[in-house]
Amino acid sequence: DIKTILFDNGDKMPMLGLGTWKSAPGEVYNAVLWALEAGYRHIDCAAVYQNEKEIGSALHTAFKKGLVKREEIFITSKLWNNAHEEHRVKTGLAQTLKDLQLDYLDLYLIHWPVSVKSNVLFPKKKEDYFSYEEVPLSATWRGMEKLKQEGLTRHIGVSNFNIANLKTIMADCNIKPEMNQIEVHPFLPQDDLLAFCLDNGIYITAYSPLGSSDRPANRKRADEPKLMENPVIREIATKHGVSPAQVLIAWSLNRDTAVIPKSANKDRIKQNLEAANLRLDDTDMRQIGDIDGSYRFIDGVFFTGIEGAPYKPGDLWEE
Ligand code: A2P
Repeated sequence: DIKTILFDNGDKMPMLGLGTWKSAPGEVYNAVLWALEAGYRHIDCAAVYQNEKEIGSALHTAFKKGLVKREEIFITSKLWNNAHEEHRVKTGLAQTLKDLQLDYLDLYLIHWPVSVKSNVLFPKKKEDYFSYEEVPLSATWRGMEKLKQEGLTRHIGVSNFNIANLKTIMADCNIKPEMNQIEVHPFLPQDDLLAFCLDNGIYITAYSPLGSSDRPANRKRADEPKLMENPVIREIATKHGVSPAQVLIAWSLNRDTAVIPKSANKDRIKQNLEAANLRLDDTDMRQIGDIDGSYRFIDGVFFTGIEGAPYKPGDLWEE
């Protein structure tokens, strides 16, 4: 049985979902169908992953085959940084709905607290950006609130928001963010941010739970540590007769965060879902908590590392 998050209006979100970042066109169609066949009922998407059309075809097939009904699955997507102006927010969602062949989302998130001009995908020079003065986070949030009021998405939230950015929105909103999707794993447990969100009724989804080693080489440090090769994780996996990936997924579920491991492989998709049945004990959790070495895989340097960029690492992260 997969644990669920219960929203204020009674909607439920399965805590274990399929990640689709880095699932290439040509493979994500099968990945989504394999996941639904295996029993996943939560798929995490984003416009910038550039595979929503193919996910839409998979969903269309799944509905047609009677594999699942729309209301039985939970679909998340994310507003890209180039549609943060209040009047553009709806066009971002409209394109995603069209690509996914859906008439509503379950959850729509602001992907990053970083805003770029509408003709830019990833910024390359300082002119590509809008600053917080030009496009305040609260203006984007007003656009998000409207989408929820119009019924185009059942829930709204954010991603990659630190405490300061959450406070900025919460100081000036009608609907509070319901979710913050952030990088969380044993090398980056995010205890302070989790505690803040818990206190404020904001749920957490953990991304890159397995260390995202398949991300593009230009976003990777050659010497980065590997979560699935960590000796503590491996020892606990051996003890329970499971894989390191399953230990990592169970760790997130045990902390009551949603978690979205990505796989495009049929066996690993099934294996990851089975992690919902793994119970880690207090000793396991303590040993994982004691792993030393802190590491952030997704450092946002593709936004903050550009000369003259209006955003600094401190605008993104706590540390
Ligand atoms: P693949 O898609 O071939 O299964 P993250 O979710 O942290 O972004 O990590 C995704 C990476 O982890 C991908 O390279 C994915 O490869 C790999 N992966 C997913 N599930 C497993 C698993 N159960 N065992 C080993 N590697 C996995």
